Parts: sequence; C-alpha cells; structure tokens
Amino acid sequence: MRTSIPTPDFETYSMELLLTSATVNNGTVDVSWTDGRKSRYHHLWLRDNCACSGCIDPNSHERVDSIGIIPDEIRPTAVKVGLNGGLVVEWDQKVGECNGVSEFHPGWLREFDYSNGAAPVEEWPIKTWGQDLEDDLPIFSADAVFNDEDTKYDFLVAIRTLGLAIVTDMPKDYEAFERISSQIGLLRDMNWGKIFEIIPKPDGEYIANRGFALDAHSDASTREYQPGFQIFQCVENTATGGESFWVDGFHIANIMKAQYPEQYELLTSVPWEFANRAKGTHYRWSAPILELDTKGEITAVRDTTWLREPLRQDFDTVPKLMNAYRTYVRLKDQRENQVERKLVEGDVAFVDNRRCLHGRRAFVPGSGMRHIRTCYGEREELQSSIRMIERARDARKFA
Ligand SMILES: [Fe+2]
Ligand SMILES: [Zn+2]
Repeated sequence: MRTSIPTPDFETYSMELLLTSATVNNGTVDVSWTDGRKSRYHHLWLRDNCACSGCIDPNSHERVDSIGIIPDEIRPTAVKVGLNGGLVVEWDQKVGECNGVSEFHPGWLREFDYSNGAAPVEEWPIKTWGQDLEDDLPIFSADAVFNDEDTKYDFLVAIRTLGLAIVTDMPKDYEAFERISSQIGLLRDMNWGKIFEIIPKPDGEYIANRGFALDAHSDASTREYQPGFQIFQCVENTATGGESFWVDGFHIANIMKAQYPEQYELLTSVPWEFANRAKGTHYRWSAPILELDTKGEITAVRDTTWLREPLRQDFDTVPKLMNAYRTYVRLKDQRENQVERKLVEGDVAFVDNRRCLHGRRAFVPGSGMRHIRTCYGEREELQSSIRMIERARDARKFA
C-alpha cells in the first residue's frame, strides 16, 4: 500500500513527488526527485527522525529515544528508493529502541527538505491595516461558523491574518458566548475569572466599568505571557456613545520603523514596567512595548495606559523612551489608523490581544445600557484549530 509508510506525526502527506535515486555520501544521503530537485539530508538528521515503530511510539506518535544516544560515527550501510518512492536507510548499528532500518515517506521528506533553504512554513502570515479595513471588516454569521467548515476556516484565518474578526447574530446568553469563543480553542482563566462583565458601575473596581473613553490598548500587559486573544460579546449597547474601535499595533510599529527609526529602536529594545494591584493579586512584568521575534519582525505589542508603571531606566534614556512612546501613542490616536464600529446586540468581536489594540469611545452611563462580556484565549489554540481543519482537508486530498 502506497500510504503505509510511517510518518512521525498524524498528518497525511502528498505522494505526488517521489524519489528517483538515493546515494550515501560523506555525512549525507543525497536524493533526486521526479521533478528534478536534488536534496541532501545529514546522517544524524535522518537517524534522529527515524519513524520506525521503535523510534516513534505508534500510539502517541511521540519520539522515544534521546538524541544523546546516537553515536557520532553512525552511518548508513545501504540506502535505496523504496517501493513507494520513499527513502529506505539501513544503519550500521542499532541503538536504543530503533529497528535499525528507517523508512521515510516521500511527502514527509519533501516537507522537511532543509537542504533547499526550506524554512518552516510561515504560520502566522499577517496583513496590516488602518482605517481602510472599516469598509472591509471580516464579518461572519454565527450560523455559518458553526455549521460550515469552510466558513469556520475563513473566520479563524481572518483572525490570524488581520488580528480582528466579527461574528454576528449570536444569542446573547452566557453559554452562547462560551460556545462561540471556544471555536478558537481553550479559554484562559484570569484573576477576575474566565468571563468578565463590562457593565457601568459608579464604584467599578476597573475603569472598564466606568463611562470613560479607553484609548486603544492590549489587555493584561502585566502578565509575562499576555493573552493571545480577547473576545467581546455585545449583550446590549443602547447607551449614547461607547463605540468600539481597534488599532493594528503592527501597522503602528511599521510606521514607527519607517518614520522614526531611532524611537522604534528604543521601543523595541528598552523594557517598560507594567503593574496592577488588584485587591487580591499583584501582577507585574517588564518588557519592551514593541516586541520583536528572532528575525527582527514585530510579534507583540504590550501597551496599557492604566497599567504602565513610572519609568525607571537609565537617566538619559527616560525622556527619550517617553517621547518615543508618545510618538507611538499619537499615531494610534489618529483616526486614519483606527477602525470603528458600534457593536450591536449579537455581535462578537475577536481580537488578537498582542497585536490589535482595542478601545472605546466615552459613553453616557444612564443614557441606555452598555453591557459587553469578554474572555481570553491563546494564539496557539487558534493555530491548532486551523491546523486541525487543514489536517482533515489533507487527509481527504491525499487519501
Ligand atoms: Fe481592555
Ligand atoms: Zn528507528
């Protein structure tokens, strides 16, 4: 059977491109493909990724042996193209639980072909936006998200790509909120509980519960690991004012990088402290407001006005960083960088909390009711949910 070659995971791989030759070289196994591509794999790499039933537990698909047990001098005694167009490697020694023969699925081998500069697939592709998105908001009906896999996929990918998506026509009860929020994956518990009710109260413990305008911000900047998502359900919104608006923090970061490179450098390198002192907890974390990944690309924004601590940094850096932050704040305050919508009953907004800043215009408490319900999730949950749909699609496509 062509698809019986083991892979070290639960994915289904294409059998379209097969190997045409395989030879052992000094330190590598070199192969050619039916489309003419040539690839090389190190002996150590192949042995480490052996998918035999001794190396990969057939139930969990988890690796059994530590890389430490592989001898430095291990090498293949023979290699060949298998009947299925995959690679078969016989090793000169059997170590650990390995059967001594590694068989590699051609689709898997192609997917992980690092010799042709194949870096891991970009899993968080983004598209930045300003006010232009207002006319083009990704809006999905709840019914379609629940009942149509393709719509659910587009909805999840919109959150991943834009950091913002809206679901309409949801029932407004608590259980419905949990149901739609769970489409992302597991929800995250916070010190105020899993779900927070934003209802105006004159003595509210948080300013969210007052009528103030809130400038665009991320939530929980005091946490080492800021929640990846925030989800807002509009239960009622009849008060005067209280429009929601969002700012793409990555868009602001890009403007800073292009127009104010020195200030961008400060914002991406010098930590600022955030702290809250709720009655029963004291969270505190220090990090640059703009966080870069190992490739120097913006990956997170940490920015909450009411959680920002007085700046304690090198004396000369203090006014420079404060001014850099003010430049950034003035950019996020510009209407041309904001998307606004007055949420209506049944709306649920999904926001990437480490990218898409959320704010609200002031509202007049007593002019009507403004009741928003909110909870948190994680980027990794979203990614996993997207990949599960892709896995099912691949299984159908390559079956
Ligand atoms: Fe907030
Ligand atoms: Zn093995």
